[in-house]
Amino acid sequence: MIGAKSAHYSISRALSILGLGSNSFLPVKVDKNEVLKMDDLEIVYNTAIKNNLRVMCVVANACATSTGLYDPISEMGDFCENHKLWFHIDGAHGAAALVSKKNKNLLKGINKATSIIWDAHKMMRVPALCTALLFKNFKHQALAFQQKGSYVFHEQEVVGMDSMPYTIECTKTALGTKFFWALALEGEGAIEKYIDYTFELAKYFYNQLKKEEHFELPYSPESNILCFRYVKESNSNEFQKKLRYSIIYRKKFYITSCEMNGLRYLRVVLLNPETSKIELGNLIEEIKIISKKLSNE
Ligand SMILES: Cc1ncc(COP(=O)(O)O)c(C=O)c1O
Repeated sequence: MIGAKSAHYSISRALSILGLGSNSFLPVKVDKNEVLKMDDLEIVYNTAIKNNLRVMCVVANACATSTGLYDPISEMGDFCENHKLWFHIDGAHGAAALVSKKNKNLLKGINKATSIIWDAHKMMRVPALCTALLFKNFKHQALAFQQKGSYVFHEQEVVGMDSMPYTIECTKTALGTKFFWALALEGEGAIEKYIDYTFELAKYFYNQLKKEEHFELPYSPESNILCFRYVKESNSNEFQKKLRYSIIYRKKFYITSCEMNGLRYLRVVLLNPETSKIELGNLIEEIKIISKKLSNE
């Protein structure tokens, strides 16, 4: 399998579970913001073929977990079409932008995907777990779910709709019901508004941080995820981590942290619809206070 070095760890975990080993994920180089580089995709693929490897699939981040940035989906889709490869899009977080007229352009080319993973529990106002594996071609789903199980599958004698041929596990709750209720209670329009609000809020936060001194911002956000560093007192990775933990231990804010190209960042995922511009202003002040405090310890 080929994908950006920044692909979610669940991809290589799945390969490991299959017993294919971690080397069966062939990482493609990324740019300074960890977005897949198309020229390296070509190189990785050609090297794999030269080494008699059989390429099973190419995976795209839509968006990447750490940064919230989208891989070049459309170009990757064309690449897969030209080389007759399965094209999987990891849209766990970011495929929800399709609901938004303003933001769906981020997923331009998603129609070229052979399969998509999409989590309603991330951006669709649905509690965990509610996830879907979507196939472009129904045949791919139908053929993969044709096992026999005489204790549960009784072909003609099913009462009502039988979801068994469409779910991965045997025993599971009806995950889609939660999504149905989110739609029934709020409607698609409310979900679209929520996505637009959180994506816009990340852009607002980015612009506010840009006006401040000592904040380093590697990129302008595409989704509701933003990474940044506060380097007034220290620019070490260790300090950013300490800053993050001290902020969450004070219990006013919950933020995360991640590494991008070897540098550790503070990271926000603006998921809560109650988060406002005022809170983000307060977060900036909190970061400055805690950083100063840490440097005096
Ligand atoms: C791009 C991406 N893929 C996969 C996952 C894993 O999703 P889950 O936590 O629903 O297993 C995440 C989680 O953050 C993600 O961002």
